[in-house]
Amino acid sequence: MCGITAISTKKEALPFLLQGLEKLEYRGYDSAGVTILSQNQLKTIKTKGRLKDLKEALSHQVLKGQVGIGHTRWATHGIPSNLNSHPHTNEDETISIVHNGIIENYRELKNFLLEKGYHFHSETDSEVVVHLLDYYYKGDILKALQIVLTKLVGSYALCVVTTNHPDEVVITKKDSPIVIGKSDSGTYGASDIPALLEYTKEVYFLNDHDIAVLHPDHVDFYDCDLKPIEKELVNIPYDHEAAQKDGYDTFMLKEIHEQPHVIKETLRGRISQDQVVLDELAEIDFSPFNKAYFVACGTAYHACLSGANIFERMTKIPVICQVASEFRYNDPAIDEHTLCLFVSQSGETADTLAALRLAKKQQATTIAVANVLGSTISREADYTIYTCAGPEIAVASTKAYTTQLVVLMLLGMYAAQRLDKKVDLYHDLIQNLMKLPELVENVLQDEPLFAIYAEYLKEAHDAYFIGRSLDYASVLEGALKLKEVSYVHADAYIAGELKHGPIALIEKGSVLFAVASQPHIAAKTISNIQETIARGANVILFTLKGMEINNAAETYILPDIHPLLQSIIVAIPLQLIAYYTACLKGCDVDKPRNLAKSVTVE
Ligand code: F6R
Repeated sequence: MCGITAISTKKEALPFLLQGLEKLEYRGYDSAGVTILSQNQLKTIKTKGRLKDLKEALSHQVLKGQVGIGHTRWATHGIPSNLNSHPHTNEDETISIVHNGIIENYRELKNFLLEKGYHFHSETDSEVVVHLLDYYYKGDILKALQIVLTKLVGSYALCVVTTNHPDEVVITKKDSPIVIGKSDSGTYGASDIPALLEYTKEVYFLNDHDIAVLHPDHVDFYDCDLKPIEKELVNIPYDHEAAQKDGYDTFMLKEIHEQPHVIKETLRGRISQDQVVLDELAEIDFSPFNKAYFVACGTAYHACLSGANIFERMTKIPVICQVASEFRYNDPAIDEHTLCLFVSQSGETADTLAALRLAKKQQATTIAVANVLGSTISREADYTIYTCAGPEIAVASTKAYTTQLVVLMLLGMYAAQRLDKKVDLYHDLIQNLMKLPELVENVLQDEPLFAIYAEYLKEAHDAYFIGRSLDYASVLEGALKLKEVSYVHADAYIAGELKHGPIALIEKGSVLFAVASQPHIAAKTISNIQETIARGANVILFTLKGMEINNAAETYILPDIHPLLQSIIVAIPLQLIAYYTACLKGCDVDKPRNLAKSVTVE
C-alpha cells in the first residue's frame, strides 16, 4: 500500500520526508516522489522505482524548503511509471497532493474535470483530487477541500501543500491510515508510526473526516464542518530502536527471535492466580451470545481458526470463522446476540474493517484484537484487546501471529470464566501459559536444525503440509509463510482429507511437513503420514515424544506443553523453515514480491 510523509518545520523538510518513506518501505511500493515548497514555488521530483532512484534524481537538484510531502506508490490505477507517481500537481503548480487509497468514482470526476478544460498527466485515480482542489479553490484551501471531500467516493489519506498557504500541510483521511506527530522542531504526518519515531513519539490520531493543518509549531484540527476540534497528544511507547534490525540480517529473523519477549509482554498483567484478567472486556455480558464470528485475513485468519476452535471448546458458544473478504459479502446471520471478533495486526486491513462496520451496523457486539495502537479497527470496535508484539516491519507476519494466538487463548479462557465453564481445569493451562516464553526460547535454540530442514526445499517447487484439528490451522499458516517468502508453491491439507484427493499428488521425493501435536488424534495423523511415505514422500514430522516413526526423513519432538498451546510452539519451526528456504533461494525475505504489509484497499 502507498506510504505518505508530510512536514511543516523551521528546518529542512526533505530529510524527514525521505527517512519516513524509508521506514514505510515495508508497505510495498513501486515508485516514489516528494514535493517541497521552496521560495513560494512547488518543486516536485518523482520517479518509478525504489527510493534509491528517487535519491539519485534528487542528487541533481537543490530541494530546500520547510514544508513538503512525500509518497511511495503501490500501483492500483495505472502502471508504475514516472507520471503515475505521486505527488500530483495542478496545471499552474500551486497545489500538490499525495494520496493513499482508492477514489472509486474517479472516472465520473475526471469526465467532469475534462469538460471544464483540465488536462490529466497520469492514469491514476488520485490526480482528480488535485484538479478538483484547483477548481473549487477560491482563496481558502480548507473550504476547497471541504467541497472536494463531498465529491469523493472511496478511501483516502490525503496531504495537500499549496503556495497560497506556504507554512501549511493540510491532511485528512477516510478509511486509510495517517497519523500526525509533533516535536519542538516541527509537525508531521505519516502513514504509520515508525516513520515518525526518529523525530517524535508524540502523536495525534485522526478519525475519518477530521482535518489536520500542520504548522511549524502546532497543528490545528477541524471536523468536516471546519469547526475547530481538540485532539489529545498521545505518547507512543515504542522507541526508534524497536523499529530497527537489532543486528539481525532481516526484520523477519529479528521478529521471529522477539517472540519469547513479546509473548511475555502480551501475557503481562493478564493472569492473576488461576484467573485470566482482561479488564478491556469487563463490561461485556457473554451470556446472551448464541454464536460468534471470528473474522480476519491471511495470517490473522489462521490465528482465528485456532482461536475459534479453542473458544468454542471452552465456552460451548458455536463459532464460525470467516475470511473478512468473504464475510462482508456473505450476508452473515448477525444480530444483537452475536459476538463478532476481528483480528488484525495493522488494524487497517480494508476487508476486516468493512466486516467490522457491517457487524456493528447489525447490532453485534464487536471485539478487535489488534497490534497497532490507535489503528482504525482498534478504535472502531466496541472493545479492543491489544497484542503487544511491537512494530512488525517484515511483510510476513510472525510475532503478530503468535501473540494473536496468545490473546485468543486468553479470550477463550476469559469468556469461559465469565460463563462459569470449566474454570477448574485452568490451573494446568495457566501454568503452561506462564512457561510459554521459555519454551519458545528453547525451540529457537534449535534454529540450525530448521535451517537443515529447509534444505529439503532447495530444489523443490512444491511442498505439502498436513495436520488435524488445531494442527490444521498451524499447517495452513506454515504453508502461507513458505509460499509468501520463498515462492515455493505450498498447500496445506487436513490429514484425514489426503485420501480424498490430494494424495494423488504425492510421488517419490515430494516434501511433506506433518504436524501431529494433539494427543487425541496424533496417531491418526501418523497413519496418514505412513500413506505418504509409502508413496515416496520425504516427511518432516513435528510430533510428541513417544509418537516418533522411524521412516520419517526428519522428526522434531515438540516440548511437553498443554495441547491447546502447541500451535504457538509449532509456529516457530515453520516460520524458520520458510525463512531459511527463502534465504536459500535468494529471495528478498522482508519484502516479498507483490505483497504489501498493510492491505488498505479491497
Ligand atoms: C502474512 C501476512 C498477511 C496478513 C493479512 C492481514 O504473513 O502478513 O496475510 O496477515 O494481510 O493483515 P492484518 O493482520 O494487518 O489485518
